[in-house]
Amino acid sequence: MSALVSPDPTTGPATAAPVSDELVADALAGLSATPKTLPCKWLYDSEGTRLFEAITRLPEYYPTRTEMRILDHHGPDIARAIGPGAVVVEFGPGDGLKAVRLLSSLEDPAAYLPVDIAPEWLEAAAARVAEALPGLRVRPVVADFSRAFDLPGGNAGAPLGFFPGSTIGNFAPEEAVAFLRRARAALGPGARMLLGADLVKDTDVLRAAYDDAAGVTAAFDLNLLHRLNREAGADFDPAAFRHEARWNPGAERIEMHLVARTAQSVRIAGRTIRFAPGESIHTENSHKYRPAHLQALAEAAGWRAAEMWTDPDRLFSVWLLEG
Ligand code: TRP
Repeated sequence: MSALVSPDPTTGPATAAPVSDELVADALAGLSATPKTLPCKWLYDSEGTRLFEAITRLPEYYPTRTEMRILDHHGPDIARAIGPGAVVVEFGPGDGLKAVRLLSSLEDPAAYLPVDIAPEWLEAAAARVAEALPGLRVRPVVADFSRAFDLPGGNAGAPLGFFPGSTIGNFAPEEAVAFLRRARAALGPGARMLLGADLVKDTDVLRAAYDDAAGVTAAFDLNLLHRLNREAGADFDPAAFRHEARWNPGAERIEMHLVARTAQSVRIAGRTIRFAPGESIHTENSHKYRPAHLQALAEAAGWRAAEMWTDPDRLFSVWLLEG
């Protein structure tokens, strides 16, 4: 099957849910593999976006508020290290609140370019930043930064990548290095990067952050099955799966799984996918870093770790990388 018309993500209607050939192809490939997987980027449709925003406000989910506190508390140091005239390119801007904090502490930022695959994220971020910083040049960019990407040219200023939220941890370490290398090339000469990375800590604290008592993270994970039903013509019974957050001590990562409660089969694009009882779909990884490991990762991608800021409990870290 080939796409006859591919909707332009910058102008297409936000409500339409056309069958996505790319989603079908990814789902068939991932669900035919052993163990079964699905690429995490499909978690973030408009419902996923809404649920993720709710995750960031959960009592158990410490990363967002801890990173915000680091950006606030160390704002003057960060601004001094970065200097005037930054062109801030944010990868995965979320609701734009972190960008507002950062841009408000910087001296005369030149422009803000939020980059995301999901237009919903971009609109929210661009609107919030434009409102908070009137007069700042804001240029949203629809791109999948998990692959090769380009940035629009014509931005006079000092390029500063901004990659908060420990999204770096959602890449496998070798993918993280590849992303950091691509970002450095896309940002161009004189590139710098402000990078948020979650730190290794007590596993109960970690597990709770990814399997909250109110079940919001479970709903976020299970939305992937609803999305496959809506946009890939699948017939999952989401109630027949449960969300599980597992700590993998060897890889130092939290793994998100959708576990089949019973033996079952699911139809998708004319194919049958069978599940054994307890078999899981691995939907996401969230790697946690030790500072020395994060530094080695950055260096492997050609960056130099110039500074690291953290909170008093050393839950989270914010890094300034220089090209
Ligand atoms: N970057 C976030 C993190 O790793 C993403 C995230 C938070 C997430 N909770 C999740 C992804 C639950 C999938 C499922 O912390």
